[in-house]
Amino acid sequence: MAGIGIVIAILVTLVAVLIPWLPTSASEQMDRIEFVYWFATVICIAVFALVMAVLLYSVMAFRSPPEDESDGPPIHGNTGLEIAWTVVPAILVIAIGVLSAFVLSKNGEAGPNPLNVKVFAQQFAWRFVYPDDGGLKSGELVLPLDRTVKFEMESADVIHSFWIPDMGQKQDLVPGITTSIIVTPTRTGMFSLVCTELCGVGHATMRATVRVLSQDDFAAWVKERKSGGGKPNAGAAIFAGAGCGGCHTFTPAGSNGEIGPGLDDIVSVAQKAGRDPAEFVREAIVEPGKVITPGYQDGVMPPNYGETLSPEEIDALVAYVTGAKK
Ligand code: CUA
Repeated sequence: MAGIGIVIAILVTLVAVLIPWLPTSASEQMDRIEFVYWFATVICIAVFALVMAVLLYSVMAFRSPPEDESDGPPIHGNTGLEIAWTVVPAILVIAIGVLSAFVLSKNGEAGPNPLNVKVFAQQFAWRFVYPDDGGLKSGELVLPLDRTVKFEMESADVIHSFWIPDMGQKQDLVPGITTSIIVTPTRTGMFSLVCTELCGVGHATMRATVRVLSQDDFAAWVKERKSGGGKPNAGAAIFAGAGCGGCHTFTPAGSNGEIGPGLDDIVSVAQKAGRDPAEFVREAIVEPGKVITPGYQDGVMPPNYGETLSPEEIDALVAYVTGAKK
């Protein structure tokens, strides 16, 4: 029986270890979450191996001969065994519960000096504001290494959910309330932020790039973003940052979204309608409900880009989309 148990334990351990079930951790919080997973998994493997060993052994050792149709001997139970299989699982479940509660509370601690980042979600884009750095805005989430970040999150329309799989933490954004979450990045590199709450037709495209930089590089990025802004590729950066490509096909941006009308021939569309292309595009950004291209739905494009983008950003975006030379 012990032999069967050991074989099963080894097989299940291989399945647990050899398949990369979780992404490689990139945050302190994910390290703790992984620890909880492994703690529970080891317990599960031990219990599974024990149960399967007893079951398989019993099936083989106590099999009745083909011609034997007599009843088995009456059994009155085993008090010792029953106490054991009640008390041991109770202790294990309580241990998992206590560890989870400890990790949950630890993962909610911002520490004395967190970097504050505000997260704004709307169908179907993410925006980030850095109040500690003069309200710097970004469509890409840039974070410093080894610094605890406190995200305060708001949704403009429906429930979205903030999740960077490599960093573990996940939190809903609910209209009308501000939710928060803590992340301490431990690895530099590029990651993905995904929306993990079905929020409408563009849900699957609601993603943002996360870039973790060393603290010096982060400081340099903040400085550059504060001084820069009106660069030649500003329109491209805003197009990417505001999430336009999630819904619109636009070859210069390499985007192939199909939720909204394609933008490659927007200039000729405007001219056919007898409109000035720049004015037509500006209106489509600021008042997207005014002209709806046949075959597309009203109410999908966020109506508030006029407020969330600055006038200079809208100018740059219009110039970029209409292909105006700068
Ligand atoms: Cu936002 Cu799904």
